[in-house]
Amino acid sequence: MANRSRAAILGFGNQGAAQAHCLRASGWPVVIGARAGGGGAARARGEGFEVLPLAAAAAAAEFVALLLPDEILPEIFRDTVARALRPGAAVVFAHGFAVRHGALEFPAGVDAVLVSPAAPGRVVRAEYDAGRGVPAYLAVTADASGRAMERAEEYATALGCARARLLRTTVEEEVVVDLFGEQTVLVGGLLELVSAAVDTLVAAGHSPAMAYLECAHQLKYLADLLHDAGPSGFASGVSSVAMYGALTRGPRIGGPALRAAMAAILEEVQDGRFAAEFLADHATGGTRLEALRAEARAEGWKRLALARAAALPPRGS
Ligand SMILES: NC(=O)c1ccc[n+]([C@@H]2O[C@H](COP(=O)([O-])OP(=O)(O)OC[C@H]3O[C@@H](n4cnc5c(N)ncnc54)[C@H](OP(=O)(O)O)[C@@H]3O)[C@@H](O)[C@H]2O)c1
Repeated sequence: MANRSRAAILGFGNQGAAQAHCLRASGWPVVIGARAGGGGAARARGEGFEVLPLAAAAAAAEFVALLLPDEILPEIFRDTVARALRPGAAVVFAHGFAVRHGALEFPAGVDAVLVSPAAPGRVVRAEYDAGRGVPAYLAVTADASGRAMERAEEYATALGCARARLLRTTVEEEVVVDLFGEQTVLVGGLLELVSAAVDTLVAAGHSPAMAYLECAHQLKYLADLLHDAGPSGFASGVSSVAMYGALTRGPRIGGPALRAAMAAILEEVQDGRFAAEFLADHATGGTRLEALRAEARAEGWKRLALARAAALPPRGS
């Protein structure tokens, strides 16, 4: 096997753990950077990785992946990681938020690249292990070596992403598209749509178990169909009664109001209002996020969780 670059993975959370496993399976020497006493450090040691403090890990590697929460990344990088970097290191980040909105800046003499796998960490690893990969967005922020994009491709290839698609973009576009997608479809839109549908059925006297199975549980099968077969395969995989209902009733759920709401959300992402609001909350201790989480736990998520418990046996039984 060719000599591989050594990679330091800073943060052993969703992406950090997945990327560390993929790189190791691709033959890269991997060291984990984690805070002492944290859950990530213990998990990484338990999974057979060498674990060092953040700065020591960064100093030991040619590729340094910053897989820490976006809101704390600029401060940790500036205070702990930046001066430990080897000259000529490639710094990898998985989301451009901290570069575009959080004042994450890179010292002279290093490459800085976005390698953003388009999937949650556990899917990145599962697809790699299955001999496939998830697509990744690549961009270059600093190119001291003149080979920054090549190094981004090398890293993404070791994650299995070249087996799917490497898509060159800019940090600006990745941030806008990522925030918009998670707010309107993948996280925000999904939770809202599923909760509203389950609540509507239950309020009309239907069983929570059936409401959950129909409107939440089955979603995976239909999403898989769209994912695997594309729009026309999806259309031919559902019944004609389902398609008639979809084409006559679906536009009432979508329609002009939905598109106007999406356009407004996109504008808030593009002009930085969303990021400023999120970072202002973080600067004051994240109290708004915590209050909103607590409210959702007590209300919508609780109703969904109860419907799920009525529908499905507990895991492992
Ligand atoms: N979630 C995803 O699958 C996903 C998908 C695409 C891109 N991304 C990007 O990947 C990056 C990492 O996100 P993530 O979801 O993987 O994060 P995460 O699961 O929340 O993991 C965060 C890690 O950072 C560590 N950490 C938190 N605060 C720290 C501190 N003050 N000092 C040192 N370590 C600290 C945690 O350590 P402890 O274990 O000690 O608490 C944990 O291991 C972000 O840029 C994100 O946008 C994530």
